[in-house]
This record gives sequence, structure tokens and C-alpha cells, in this order.
Amino acid sequence: MGRNRSSCVLLLMVAILTLCFVSSKAKLKKLQHAPKADGSLRFLVIGDWGRNGADNQSLVAFQMGVIGEKMEIDFVISTGDNFYDNGLTGVYDPAFEESFTNIYTAPSSQKKWYNVLGNHDYRGNAMAQISPVLGYRDNRWVCFRSYVVNSENVDLVFVDTTPFVKKYFIDTKGHSYDWRGVLPRKRYISKLLRDVDLALRQSTATWKVVIGHHTIKSVGHHGDTQELLIHLLPVLQANNVDLYINGHDHCLEHISSLDSSIEFLTSGGGSRAWRGDEKGRKGEEMKFYYDGQGFMSVHISQIQLQIAFYDVFGNVMHQWNTSKFEMCVCICNE
Ligand SMILES: *[C@@H]1O[C@H](CO)[C@@H](O)[C@H](O)[C@H]1NC(C)=O
Ligand SMILES: *[C@@H]1O[C@H](CO)[C@@H](O)[C@H](O)[C@H]1NC(C)=O
Repeated sequence: MGRNRSSCVLLLMVAILTLCFVSSKAKLKKLQHAPKADGSLRFLVIGDWGRNGADNQSLVAFQMGVIGEKMEIDFVISTGDNFYDNGLTGVYDPAFEESFTNIYTAPSSQKKWYNVLGNHDYRGNAMAQISPVLGYRDNRWVCFRSYVVNSENVDLVFVDTTPFVKKYFIDTKGHSYDWRGVLPRKRYISKLLRDVDLALRQSTATWKVVIGHHTIKSVGHHGDTQELLIHLLPVLQANNVDLYINGHDHCLEHISSLDSSIEFLTSGGGSRAWRGDEKGRKGEEMKFYYDGQGFMSVHISQIQLQIAFYDVFGNVMHQWNTSKFEMCVCICNE
């Protein structure tokens, strides 16, 4: 009897340890970024940018410096396609200085840059961009495939969206992609979806923001990304995500949703834009679309979230606010 019980306890302990091990393996890497003393957080978002300063990249960089200083930003987020046309060739590729370090030189841009990879980054040496060597060359650079940045009231979940898009695997149009660490694709995607779901479910932050390179909803050149509509969107909806922020379409865009809490934001105007092929979508959810260069800002406090989009002159082109009030129980003495 006693021996049975102790072997039961032992089995249980082994089971718990195994579970702990499995679930700790499944977790996304988690970073902390302290908010300001009042708990607020301010950051800029840019996407689709690295072109040695060309195609107005330098103009966008200059205005990011101006707005970043005014806002006293805490960091910058990049939605991917960091280096055109084909990512970096390796950790010592001079494009890293030519398109990043020597371009975003404003004092207010000397903050952490939280990056994701875009499809053009996968056309080069994708491992180079997630290598710690880049952090030694410029200590602003932070890049992993998928990860979480927590800042008290906000959880930012960065998702590697390129592996979701099937055509990059079956119809490469003469490009070669660096799929090291991604294959087999289906296993990679299902593990990633589980990890993202877990990170969002475990999040106790007031605001949940998800960042990826590819669009979920867009009226720009590429339009919606079917694979993300099918696989990622349900995970975001189930977890009451507030914002999904992407690049890929070289424009600035805000699409709301009528059936969930999610606002879809595209900040892909870091350099070449003006593609001129807007797909018509005139629904109530369409809030803003601009086919040119620019960037976005986000200001989050405990109860309020504000976004704004800027053009290359720093003009505010679109603004949007929302708030959440903390639940409080009031006891009234009559
Ligand atoms: C740079 O920005 C200006 C102002 O939006 C625009 O008129 C011009 O066409 C842009 N240049 C390029 C190369 O996109
Ligand atoms: C958003 O809130 C800020 C500060 O509370 C305010 O200045 C701005 O006008 C608001 N914008 C919109 C579109 O409501």
C-alpha cells in the first residue's frame, strides 16, 4: 500500500517535471523593456526600409528623429524587409551600416530596435540578422524570429510570418530563400501558432500587440495574406488582441474590424512606395490608406492607446485613440 502510494507520487512527479520541460521548451523568448515612470510607453514603427538611404529612406529617418524626440520614444519597432533586395549576405555585410547605422542617426533613434524578418530578409542570410554579432556592431539591434517584449501594461508579440506563405516554398520565382531552422514548414508553423497562443493566453498585460511582416488585412499591393487569415487571425481573435501591426505593403494603412477588438495597422512606408494599386475596399472598417512613405507612432498608457501616422514631412495624416478603464469596485456610503 505505502509502496504503491510512493511510486504513484514518483510517477506524478516525473509527469509534472516532463510537463514543465515540454512547456518551457514551447515558450517564446521573453524580453523586458521598462516603461516610463508613469507606466506609459511610446514607440515608432517603420517597415520595408533598407535601401542605402534611397527612395526617401533618409527623409523618413530624419522625421522619425524629429517625432521621436518630441514624443520621447522608448524604442523603435521594425515590421521587416530590413535590407533590400536580398537581406544581408552575412554578419559583416556593409549594408548593415549603409542602410541602418548610418541612416537612423538622430539622437532619439538611438534606442533599441525590435525587428522581425520579412520575405526579402529570408532571401539573404536570414541567420545573420538574428545573430548576436549584429548587436555588437550596433547595440540597438534586437532581432529574433518570434519573441515577446513585455513592458508592464503591454505585451508585444513578434511573429515570424514569412514561413506561413506557401508560394515562397513552391514558386520561388528564381529567388532562393534561407529556410535553415524553418523546415519542415508545417511543423514550424503549428509550433509557432501554439507558442503565440500560449504567450497571449498567459499575458496579463492590459494591451496586447502582435507584430508580423505580412498583412492580415490590407487593400495595398499584396492585399490580405490568406494563410494568416486562416491560421493566425483566429488565434489573435481568441485572445482579444488590440493591434496587429505589419509591413509588406509599402504604404500606411488602418483597417478596423467590426467583429473583433483588433485594429489592423500597416507601417511599410520606410522607403520605396507609390505602387498605385489600391484594391477597393470601402467598408466601414477602412479608416485610412496612404500609398506613400512615412511611419507610425504608438503611445500607450495604462488606460489609453493612441496611434498616429506621419508622412515624410512629419505631418500627421491620421490619428486614432481608444481607452480601457480599469475595473473598480466602488463602495458607496450613503
Ligand atoms: C519622396 O517623397 C515626396 C513627398 O511625398 C514624393 O513626392 C516623392 O515622389 C518621393 N520620392 C520617391 C523617390 O519616392
Ligand atoms: C487622441 O488623444 C489625444 C490626447 O488625449 C488628443 O490630443 C487627440 O486629439 C486625440 N485624437 C483623436 C483622433 O481622438
